[in-house]
Amino acid sequence: TRHLLGIKDISENDIQLIFETADNFKDVLNRPIKKVPSLRDITIANIFFENSTRTRLSFELAEKRLSADVINFSSSNSSVKKGETLIDTVNNILSMKVDMVVMRHASPGAPHFLSKNIQANVVNAGDGTHEHPTQALLDAFSIREKLGDVAGKKVAIIGDILHSRVALSNIFCLQKLGAEVMVCGPITLLPKHIDSLGVKVEYDVQKALEWCDVANVLRIQLERQQIKYFPSLREYSLYFGINKKMLDRLGKKIVIMHPGPINRGVEMNSDVADGEHSIILQQVENGVAIRMAVLYLLAGAK
Ligand code: CP
Repeated sequence: TRHLLGIKDISENDIQLIFETADNFKDVLNRPIKKVPSLRDITIANIFFENSTRTRLSFELAEKRLSADVINFSSSNSSVKKGETLIDTVNNILSMKVDMVVMRHASPGAPHFLSKNIQANVVNAGDGTHEHPTQALLDAFSIREKLGDVAGKKVAIIGDILHSRVALSNIFCLQKLGAEVMVCGPITLLPKHIDSLGVKVEYDVQKALEWCDVANVLRIQLERQQIKYFPSLREYSLYFGINKKMLDRLGKKIVIMHPGPINRGVEMNSDVADGEHSIILQQVENGVAIRMAVLYLLAGAK
């Protein structure tokens, strides 16, 4: 059984195959009839132990566009609240003849653990601070669409790198595709092992913007902070928040990305989020085609 657990485990060829498959599905999604019969014999369970808007709806829509049968599970109103374990929960769902599981969980490694203990394809929809592979794929696909290629491009990932699964999956994905990667944020929000990841490190956000072709801006993940980190949101926005004046000063156009949800006025102002440089909503649009491609390729291997 094949899985998509993280970008670390897949090759550049795998990523290129996902992109070529997503190109075809993007064409389909631009037609009046957006549905194809590819997964009509497949049943998929979306199992979410953590909140989500984009990822959950995007997977559900991708599954429906592929004609799969879909069930949705949210831990907050389930028998997990009565003490049922992850494996028992998923095996009960699978006994209803479910073929694939898309899972989001707050614990890093939860989908890897699940994949070793159940008989179904597992797709990681975000595991704590670890990886968010489909987000990195849709981000790199969006850069490729906007700039023609990812290879040779300079991408700055700006914000809370320490708590971000988006940052780690993006670093792996962009490096496999031949991009140069910089991380920028307060030193307190960078992981201690940052030097082992082969990225440039910058603490001055204006210098990061000057260096890059693409700025992928991340949210401060207060929900993952066990202790109160420096800086506060107000301090963060003062020293690292991006506004239009900073972009106007560059004398070049850079692409602005954000995985969402945005904290407007903290990591970026509305004049940046909604400005001419932003491809934030194109990222969301591309998420459906990318997730169709991932599900199609995993199901095809059965
Ligand atoms: N980008 C992302 O994962 O958003 P959600 O948490 O809303 O799914």
